[in-house]
Amino acid sequence: MFDLKSVESLLPSRYRDRLDEAVEVLTLLKEIRDPRVLLSLGPSGLRGLVWKRGKQGVPTKVPASHSAHFDFTYPADQPEMQSLYQRAKQGQWDSDMLPWQTSVDPENPEVPLIPDNFIGWDELQAAGIRLTEKEKRGLLHSVTAWMLSQFLHGEQGALFAAAQVTEAVQFFDGKLYGATQVMDEGRHVEVFHRYLTEKLGKLYQVNDNLFVIIDALMADGRWDLKFLGMQIMVEGLALGAFGVVYKLTKEPLLKQLLKMVIQDEARHVHYGVLALRNHIRSELTERERSEREDWALEVALLMRNRFMAYEVFEEWGEGKLSREQWRHMVSHAPGMVQFRQVMFSRLVPNLREIGLMSPRILPRYEEAGLLQYFTGLSADKLSGEDLVRSLDGVS
Ligand SMILES: [Fe+2]
Ligand SMILES: [Fe+2]
Repeated sequence: MFDLKSVESLLPSRYRDRLDEAVEVLTLLKEIRDPRVLLSLGPSGLRGLVWKRGKQGVPTKVPASHSAHFDFTYPADQPEMQSLYQRAKQGQWDSDMLPWQTSVDPENPEVPLIPDNFIGWDELQAAGIRLTEKEKRGLLHSVTAWMLSQFLHGEQGALFAAAQVTEAVQFFDGKLYGATQVMDEGRHVEVFHRYLTEKLGKLYQVNDNLFVIIDALMADGRWDLKFLGMQIMVEGLALGAFGVVYKLTKEPLLKQLLKMVIQDEARHVHYGVLALRNHIRSELTERERSEREDWALEVALLMRNRFMAYEVFEEWGEGKLSREQWRHMVSHAPGMVQFRQVMFSRLVPNLREIGLMSPRILPRYEEAGLLQYFTGLSADKLSGEDLVRSLDGVS
């Protein structure tokens, strides 16, 4: 009988890793159960995973097809969005006020950027890789730079998506609020880029799976899919991820930077909940709602299962261990396991709140181990300040 594993073991490592990558893409496509979701994510999957459009080293063009919604009567139509707009104006901050003079040594074990348990050291050792203390610090430095690079690329996606939804939404108060978010995201791009280039001295390319999600929501003409993709999924997961790093890092500049970004992001996710709650619950047909419910689950799994830092593997691990061994190590390192789980703590309550966690889909969230966050507070009930206080352990 044909056995892929035994064929793989006969191949030189370079070809074995290419085959592993191809099998992973096919498995991913096979796992998508709703054909409408496959149709919506498929073209972006082709551009991101097969053609690797995010990694071509040239400006990447993503087609857009939404309509701009004008209203020359300027209605005051959404009081909650209006108050969010007021808070956003008052919450603006100048990126130059961060303590940029802080000297950052990304490989100093006394001031770690992230804890050691983000790498499965025992597993690397079992694969025959022995690292000096300096090499270990170097690998942790790379993994941190990789994570923050993905935060940066997500912020670029958020900047453009915020501009798109500002054009596309029908709520006038939402458009004014959206203008503040565009400014916030511009500032986030600036601070992450500055930290990576000035303090860590490293910048990784966009992860293919993140590119697929950004590409899909930028190209989709439906305004609510853009909201769901960016304001709820990407921003919700980013908020969880920023929270984990904020809590764990010992580096004071990164901590302060994340604290400021988290407070902005909490407003962005709040806006997503306000914009989608009524729309999904009362304006969509059940068929349209269930398509969005499936789409959200697939995107959530894409973010959880496929965020494997292959860009670090390609730089550091190729030839030393197989792509499959690397994936196993990243999937099981305790810090990474915790990181991936906690990322979802801020997303799941919002999916519930907007009506995308019906009893039909719950077993699949349970299977993925994500139902534990089901009863958490949604973004409309949790301000950025409260969130930071809870991360600081102050009630
Ligand atoms: Fe942001
Ligand atoms: Fe944001």
